[in-house]
Amino acid sequence: MSQHFQHDVLVIGSGAAGLSLALTLPEHLRIAVLSKGDLANGSTFWAQGGVAAVLDDTDTVQSHVEDTLNAGGGLCHEDAVRFTVEHSREAIQWLIDQGVPFTRDEPADPDHPGFEFHLTREGGHSHRRIIHAADATGAAIFKTLLDQARQRPNIELLEQRVAVDLITEPRLGIEGDRCLGAYVLNRASGEVDTFGSRFTVLATGGAAKVYLYTSNPDGACGDGIAMAWRSGCRVANLEFNQFHPTCLYHPQAKSFLITEALRGEGAHLKLPNGERFMHRFDPRGELAPRDIVARAIDHEMKRLGIDCVYLDISHQPSTFIKTHFPTVYERCLEFSIDITEQAIPVVPAAHYTCGGVMVDGHGRTDVPGLYAIGETSFTGLHGANRMASNSLLECFVYARSAAQDILCQLQQVAIPSALPSWDASQVTDSDEDVIIAHNWDELRRFMWDYVGIVRTNKRLQRAQHRVRLLLDEIDEFYSNYKVSRDLIELRNLAQVAELMIRSAMARQESRGLHYTLDYPHMLPEALDTILVPTTYAG
Ligand code: FAD
Ligand code: SIN
Repeated sequence: MSQHFQHDVLVIGSGAAGLSLALTLPEHLRIAVLSKGDLANGSTFWAQGGVAAVLDDTDTVQSHVEDTLNAGGGLCHEDAVRFTVEHSREAIQWLIDQGVPFTRDEPADPDHPGFEFHLTREGGHSHRRIIHAADATGAAIFKTLLDQARQRPNIELLEQRVAVDLITEPRLGIEGDRCLGAYVLNRASGEVDTFGSRFTVLATGGAAKVYLYTSNPDGACGDGIAMAWRSGCRVANLEFNQFHPTCLYHPQAKSFLITEALRGEGAHLKLPNGERFMHRFDPRGELAPRDIVARAIDHEMKRLGIDCVYLDISHQPSTFIKTHFPTVYERCLEFSIDITEQAIPVVPAAHYTCGGVMVDGHGRTDVPGLYAIGETSFTGLHGANRMASNSLLECFVYARSAAQDILCQLQQVAIPSALPSWDASQVTDSDEDVIIAHNWDELRRFMWDYVGIVRTNKRLQRAQHRVRLLLDEIDEFYSNYKVSRDLIELRNLAQVAELMIRSAMARQESRGLHYTLDYPHMLPEALDTILVPTTYAG
């Protein structure tokens, strides 16, 4: 039997964004935080490099703002950038107060007076401004926030719950345009439960799993973007898919990330013959923004017909490498690569979704009562290319801003009652799961081949044709069979892939992460690609 639940706030996602929002709200509110796998299954747990913030006296808000604008290829919204950077110090202080064990400077660094934590550097940043917990910053943040959430009786943490779709007034055929909660598959019971809530928050992460090779964990399927789109929200800039330049190249490594902080601490990118090449592409060399480094690697791999390039930090002292990069060191050693002595074989892989659900400065979407925060959202911060370590920062700043907005609106909104149950009367158990697996594979492969680092009109047209066929097939499957996590994710991935392709086709220029051989130049005017659903609520 399916169940009905009621909460003040339903948070879909238990990563940095979702947990921060839940912890910022007051303890008298009943909050549910859902995760579609175990609670750690988002990208947050895997974050390595750190969080960018203006933290020491030699750095300035203006400098962080300018670096972000430069990396973003002219497309960042300056107000969003300034808002985020201005709130960076208080966001980090909040994390320190929660107990996050950031790496300390020992002995204290004379270049950073008055600040006790070690700051590292990454591409695009003109200062050392990345606070981190060695090279496992995401795990340190996640564990701390989860511990805090577990101590709060008002926060229910619900694992293995997959949100299928949002419940909105138009969907129920009643007057108004509010979001009233979500239908959620309980993977243990196999039933779709009904969650009614005064406020619903999408904190579902990105969509990099749309590509065959990705640094992201399996759940990064763009569920929040697809659900918001189906509910009438606009989405923006989905053509900007960030490829991280350096993921471990090894058949068993599943694109394990080699943090950009290695390059921040002096690692060199090399060709198989040991020659450095980044200075041929950008005067900042290895510390150019990610779009430039990933494209340079792609170019060299194609030019020389090689399977990977190499990242070499072995010239640094062995103890420094082991202390600062214990996770990367251990992981590479599992594949018999000793990074204190050898260069690491690396390739680019899909890493981050710069576009997403359009929101304002409080994370409000186009649908009243529905918020989007973290990687699933589009705030305008990242423009055409996200600067390293600005993503976690965005999660914290917008989670806290959305929480404040929810508090302001509390008195005007009641918990919705008597929501209808999910209707499963027309569907049966599937005996064709092989189709789902095949479609997953096909989608991710053609997205990699046709909508990758270098694009052309022809490749995009091919991808569009294929994704439309897939969408028809998936729709038919969805109408006839009971939902499962695989089916829900495939449906969302295909939907988001279609939006990405459409956005890429609309951008007739090369800018930031979107590079096309048919329009190699940047247009003088920088415009967002905004897609409007037929069900648009605005
Ligand atoms: P996530 O942490 O991805 O969490 C998503 C949550 O949503 C999960 O709990 C998931 O279960 C849940 N969910 C999704 N769909 C559903 C559904 N349908 N129903 C229920 N629950 C659902 N950024 C930085 O700033 N610094 C770094 O050093 C850094 N390093 C990175 C390293 C790696 C390997 C990766 C992959 C990313 C890195 N990033 C980094 C990016 C950053 O980690 C992510 O952008 C950020 O963690 C996203 O947080 P989030 O809370 O938005 O989503
Ligand atoms: C990394 O550590 O290289 C990832 C940083 C990021 O994605 O911001």
